[in-house]
Amino acid sequence: MSVESTHDYEALVRPEEGEVSRRIFADPEVHAEELERIFARSWLFVAHASEIPSAGDYVTRLSGTDPVVVTRTEDDQIRVFHNSCRHRGMQVCRVDRGNTAHFRCPYHGWTYKNDGRLIGVPAHKYAYGELDRSRLGLLEPPHVRVLHGLVFVNWDPDAPSLEDYLGDMLWYLEILFARTEQGIEVVGSPQRSLTAMNWKLGADNFSGDGYHVAMTHRHALELELFGGGTMLGHTIVCEGGHTVRFQNFPPQIPLPHHLALPDEVMESMRRTLDPDQLDAIDAITVMHGNVFPNFSFVDAIFTTTGDPDIPPVSFQNIRLWQPASADETELWSWVTMAKETPDWWRDASLETFVRSHGIAGTFDQDDIEVWTNITAANRGPIARRQTFNYEIGLRNPRPDPDWIGPGTAYAADYNEANQRAFYSTWRGYMQSRTGVKA
Ligand code: FES
Ligand SMILES: [Fe+2]
Repeated sequence: MSVESTHDYEALVRPEEGEVSRRIFADPEVHAEELERIFARSWLFVAHASEIPSAGDYVTRLSGTDPVVVTRTEDDQIRVFHNSCRHRGMQVCRVDRGNTAHFRCPYHGWTYKNDGRLIGVPAHKYAYGELDRSRLGLLEPPHVRVLHGLVFVNWDPDAPSLEDYLGDMLWYLEILFARTEQGIEVVGSPQRSLTAMNWKLGADNFSGDGYHVAMTHRHALELELFGGGTMLGHTIVCEGGHTVRFQNFPPQIPLPHHLALPDEVMESMRRTLDPDQLDAIDAITVMHGNVFPNFSFVDAIFTTTGDPDIPPVSFQNIRLWQPASADETELWSWVTMAKETPDWWRDASLETFVRSHGIAGTFDQDDIEVWTNITAANRGPIARRQTFNYEIGLRNPRPDPDWIGPGTAYAADYNEANQRAFYSTWRGYMQSRTGVKA
């Protein structure tokens, strides 16, 4: 089945000229097409394996706007199912997380094992006589892949492998999620909030917006909580619209190297990462980026923990910009840490996250105030005829051929090459005539 487009995306999205129409951040039809063309065809992050460590554990999540349940079966397989009964569509699992061997639908009582099989139908013989239960198991995406503990799904049967989809981005994801022998784990439950913003504003910012930090987050610089503002760093574009930004140390602020990670993590990291990967995070204040379309990450060191007896620490945060509607985003946000992390560092890191990039943190409040305001300003017909400007680095890109990692790197902290790559990929998906397979 092909999905006919109602918009001329070639005209609306012109990153090569540094222009993107504001219509794509506001129009409900564009949003509906995004769900079909991007979210039903991209690899989407749904959970981390550490959230469901034991047989029978499950969490309920969203893939685009479709509810899914992520389970660990008795034979230790991670499976993902559409959280919707095959009889009449009721969600078979209605809580955030738990442990069970089966899901019983609250409407008429069809019962599914946590491997998706339909194992119980009330009054089976009386109501149906014959019913082939084997073809009525919970719907399962054709592709589920667990990589460094990250559980991804893809609903497109023709999708490339996750490794091909990520390409060069894998090298950067290893730095974040495969930095130690034991790997990372999620701390607690994800924070969730519904914000009145288009999802792309978050992905756009996390993809590489170094330009907003000194203004939007000025409080943190003035209070010397965050050592930003050097204008030095790298923005990196990987094929597929995946991007990373590294911000260098401010030379005047003596911060610990390697994101102030504790000795226990550093020891394991030296045995796990290659020297170039270690070098990439040697003298940075922040590494953040976005896996197309909506999976973002940030690993940032803060100048102070607020406790004079505890040295600076960093935190690692992963987040999803869930496309609830054209002007609503459900933000899901997890804290992650290497399993080797000692308790004192865990506490300080978690507190630093809560203070800055947690939902009530100052950084997230700064950013979300801006993104909701932009979304409100996009509602009018005049605004929708206008474009956003993405010209930074267009005429002076400053490519860095000596960058130690893969991808195309630019030696500039202020550069919108990453956002241009995001929208170029976005346009590619939206223009493609191949839709979701029926
Ligand atoms: S909708 Fe689930 S049993 Fe009827
Ligand atoms: Fe920000």
